[in-house]
Amino acid sequence: MTASIRPAVGAPHARIWGVGGYRPVRVVPNSELIERIDSSDEWIQSRSGIKTRRWANDEETVAEMSIAAAGKALAHAGISADQVGCVIVSTVTHLKQTPAIATEIAYRLGAGGGRAAAFDVSAACAGFCYGLTLANDLIRGGSAEYVLVIGVERLSDLTNPDDRGTAFIFGDGAGAVVVGPSDVPGIGPVVWGSDGSNSEAIEQTESWEELRDNAEATFPTLRMEGQKVFRWAVWEMAKVCKEALDAAGVAVGELDAFIPHQANMRITDAMIKALQLPAEVPVARDIAESGNTSAASIPLAMERMLETGEAPSGGTALVMGFGAGLVYAGQVITLP
Ligand code: UT7
Repeated sequence: MTASIRPAVGAPHARIWGVGGYRPVRVVPNSELIERIDSSDEWIQSRSGIKTRRWANDEETVAEMSIAAAGKALAHAGISADQVGCVIVSTVTHLKQTPAIATEIAYRLGAGGGRAAAFDVSAACAGFCYGLTLANDLIRGGSAEYVLVIGVERLSDLTNPDDRGTAFIFGDGAGAVVVGPSDVPGIGPVVWGSDGSNSEAIEQTESWEELRDNAEATFPTLRMEGQKVFRWAVWEMAKVCKEALDAAGVAVGELDAFIPHQANMRITDAMIKALQLPAEVPVARDIAESGNTSAASIPLAMERMLETGEAPSGGTALVMGFGAGLVYAGQVITLP
């Protein structure tokens, strides 16, 4: 006789219970970068909206920044690390192929008594929304009660200070959320996908093999076909936002906040226009002070909007990430 397998029992729904961020101490204004790329503060601000970014020092490692952000998120949620069953770290700047940085972070936090499941996700600037999607499904599927999702980057490690197209864009930081069970839906259906035909639009300049085999190769950095990514983001990502709203059954006018990935202020403005977002809906503009922090940008912006009172706790927000891959993911959420 075939054994019958008892199914895992999950929570009816999931939501974000707490958010926390870590911003590196060092603030880098445009004036520090412009000479090497023959640029100006005016050009950078008008083309990207960026005034400053944070760059991590030697002590502000991927693990340290993550632990600081996660600690704040746990405190905000009122959840102890013991209760966390899984730690997901979204990053493209943990510079060691294996093991995943998530295991060290989980252990040092004491997640699940130091034994929580832990793994990294590589989905670039969509990494936070990918992680949130996994957390939602793990909780509803019964694989974990609470999941810590961390988006963290030290993009300064992979930035070429002489590259006019990227030197001014990227920043460092970490943002984390605690996702847990809920009686009512707090994370709407995800609209996500990828476009590998454009995988070269944002990429590491050399692979590790090239670095190993080519004596001339220098340490890799990130290169980006800025205009191509810009056009894709403006045209395609507004559609994804609309689909995510439709999937959740939420009208654009019902939003209490719009928190897109902080890629470029002009991309955000184009999305607002395409979505016909009412002027009274607050929009995340953390890029002005933080630059583009890839997987960390949405939770960092979310924390700031809640702390400043721009967005209400318990309100409804649309989050949307997009970037290297190309990859994207968006969903409607209830703010912690
Ligand atoms: O987070 C992951 C996803 N990433 C993104 O979404 C980023 C998407 N792309 C962008 O945000 C924009 O493409 C950038 C901000 C990176 C660049 O802005 P752009 O408006 O696309 O600039 P461009 O490359 O079209 O260059 C316009 C002009 C050119 O001069 P001409 O040919 O018009 O005379 C460039 O040579 O600006 C010049 N330029 C610069 N000037 C001063 C290019 N880079 C610079 C610079 N400073 N750093």
